[in-house]
Formats: sequence, structure tokens, C-alpha cells
Amino acid sequence: MNVKLSAQNVSKLFNDKQGEGASRLAKGQSKEEIFRETGVTVGINNVSFDVNEGEIFVIMGLSGSGKSTLVRTLNGLIRPTSGKILIGDTDVASCSKDALRDVRRKKITMVFQHFALFPHKTVLENVAFGLKLKGIAREDRNKAALNSLAKVGLDAYADSLPDQLSGGMQQRVGLARGLANDPEILLMDEPFGALDPLIRREMQDELIGLQRELKKTIIFITHDLNEAMILGDRIAIMKDGAFVQVGTAQEIVSEPSDDYVRAFVADIDRSRVFKVSDIASDAAWVNADATASDALKVMDRQKSDLAYVVRAGVPVGLLIRSDAMECARTTPVRDIMHAEPPVVAEEAYLNEVYAAAQTGVPMAVTNEDGKLVGVVSQEQIFEQLASGPAEEESADSEPAAPAGKVAE
Ligand SMILES: Nc1ncnc2c1ncn2[C@@H]1O[C@H](COP(=O)(O)OP(=O)(O)OP(=O)(O)O)[C@@H](O)[C@H]1O
Ligand SMILES: [Mg+2]
Repeated sequence: MNVKLSAQNVSKLFNDKQGEGASRLAKGQSKEEIFRETGVTVGINNVSFDVNEGEIFVIMGLSGSGKSTLVRTLNGLIRPTSGKILIGDTDVASCSKDALRDVRRKKITMVFQHFALFPHKTVLENVAFGLKLKGIAREDRNKAALNSLAKVGLDAYADSLPDQLSGGMQQRVGLARGLANDPEILLMDEPFGALDPLIRREMQDELIGLQRELKKTIIFITHDLNEAMILGDRIAIMKDGAFVQVGTAQEIVSEPSDDYVRAFVADIDRSRVFKVSDIASDAAWVNADATASDALKVMDRQKSDLAYVVRAGVPVGLLIRSDAMECARTTPVRDIMHAEPPVVAEEAYLNEVYAAAQTGVPMAVTNEDGKLVGVVSQEQIFEQLASGPAEEESADSEPAAPAGKVAE
């Protein structure tokens, strides 16, 4: 994998003139103790991570945990107290001002929460403004700006003024401005923080759709764990300036590293974290030219009361045991199968398949070529959604079975 940005042991302390805070931090004192005893604020505490090309890396944490400080060190707005931040060959923690300017021009662009659109400039001028600063000729910059407005679906509004657009649309203009620079890395600090929930959802979907096409390297800051889970290929959870866990949404939800993370994930919407592929099991299946007898053998082997019927790998029907039992053993399955079986994509999130699952029939799971790769039942979905984060429980803390329970 191609690493686009590598942060190595980055720390940032505020007001640490004598280095007293740094030495206490190295000895393991907490952020709070250090502040109380010395007045030094720990902004970032020894953070290391790599961001890979094309991924959305989300940094998530409560207010004051150090997200903004970290993201500002990444583009050189703040110099860390110690550590390295490598973007290509440049260490933005220690490079010259010229080198930094070069990195900002070519490699990394920041999209802020408040986009500060110029109210008297048109949407197009706003988007093109950064390119103008770079000295790009009018015709070229307008072309690039229009192009990036088209990416966010706003090319028709090029000549409008910002206040003629809704909040969400203004947000997209901010995004288009970031994209117009065509940076290798896009830094986004709570870009959707000021939006109302519905528009926020819309923007999240928009960013996901855009990312499918653009494959940008994005570092995205949020204090909303649901947003982090929806957007992040990987998520880092920050507390008191340190990373407490880094992983995929599935990893963090199924194995929170400590009580702090566990408390966070307790009220997460699991149906938007887990995909069909996370819970699908092997399917019993037969080819369309098989016989009832073949199908019964397969169902016996798989201990299943139904089998999917496939043609060239694609599910075309569903066969139920009782139907196979009630006909002649040599009957072709295509004559007794139920056509148009329920099908879901392995890439779908569980919240997208609720409705389809309500038939109660286990659904065929298909890959991107439409071929059968497994099966998923309503029970499997409910089980995954019900199981909270694994609790550390010892065997003897399990409630004892009530004695003398009378069988119904
Ligand atoms: N310029 C500064 N001088 C002193 N302390 C600072 C400065 N900037 C940030 N801090 C402190 O560093 C810590 C991290 O702040 P930061 O703004 O990075 O948090 P955040 O995670 O972005 O919070 P929020 O979600 O509220 O934006 C806080 O304790 C804050 O008080
Ligand atoms: Mg912040």
C-alpha cells in the first residue's frame, strides 16, 4: 500500500516553555495532572499513524481531545513539540517555510467547518479563488472550477451568489473549492458540523459517492462516532491527545480496546456498521439442471431446508425441501423452484436489507458479478444487531438457571 502521510510520535504541548510538561508526559503523568501542576496543556500525546492512498482516515474524539490541533500539525499550521510528519519526502514538522508552502500548494488542502465563502463573489469565483492565488490563468482556473462544481452537482449554480444557496449547497461549494486544487490529501475538520441532521446525512452520502469516483486520500475529523463509522475506512479514536484505538468500524464495534471506547460504541447504530458479508453463511445450492434428488442430498449435507438454484453462478430460484420431497426424484429443480428469489448484495449494510429480510426467507447473497456467495437469514441479522460489544464476563458471573423450572 502506498502511504501518503506518515505521522510518527507526534506530540504538541502548549505553554511548555521549560519542557517541564514534556518530561512529565514522558513519565506517564496524565493530561489533567500536568495541567493542574504546571499549567501546560497537552494537545497531542505521542500519536503515530499512516494514511494510505485513497482511504478515508477518520479522527474521532470528544471536544478538547486534540483533533483540530492534530490536523493543524498535519498541514504545518502548528509545529509539533516533537515527532515527524512525512508527506512524500518532506517532514512538515521541521521543513523550511518554502518547503511548507510547496506542500500546501501541491499536496494537501484543508476544508474547514466554516467555509468562509466570499459573499460578493459568485460560486464559480469562490471555487476558482485558490487557483487564482496560485497564479493559474483565468480560462484554466474557471475550467477547473466548473469541473469540480460539476463533481458536487452544482455546475448549474456557477453564477449564483453564496447566499442564494442552501446551507448544504454552500457546504458543497466549500468541498468543490477543496477539490479544485486537486490535492493529493484532503484535510476536513468537522466539515459537516454546522449542518442540520438531514443535510448532514445527505452530505455524508455525497462524500461517499464522490469518493468512489475520486479515490482521494482524505483525513476527516468528527466528534460524531456514527459519522466516523459511515465514512471511515479506518477510524482513530482520540482521548486526551492520544489515540486509544485505530481500526475499521467493524473492528472497533466488535472489539473496543477499553471502557472508554466501549462506552462510545454502546449506542452506535450497528446496522450501519456491519455489512451482509460480515454475517453471511455458506449457501446450499444446486445448478438449474440438477434433479430433486441431487438437491435433497445437498440440503442434507448442509443441514438446510432450502437450497438456492443457480445458473452460471447467478441465483435464479429457491427450492424448498418439502417441494423436493413431494415430487418424483428425477424432476428437474427448475420445474419445482420458486423463481425470483430474494437477493441482497454482500456489500450492502444491514440497514439496507431489513425490508427484504421481512419475508422470513433466507436471502441469497451475491457478489458484484451477481453470483451467489452465501446466504443470510433474518435471525442472523437480528443476532448481529442485538449483540452489544463483548463484555468481559467470567463463567461464574453467569446467572444460574432457575432450579426446578417446569417444562411448558
Ligand atoms: N492555542 C492553544 N493554546 C493553548 N491550548 C490550546 C490551544 N489550542 C488548543 N489547545 C488545547 O489543546 C487541547 C486540544 O484542543 P483541540 O482544539 O485540538 O480539540 P478538538 O478535539 O478539536 O475539540 P473540538 O471538538 O471542540 O473542536 C485542548 O485541551 C485545548 O484547550
Ligand atoms: Mg476542533
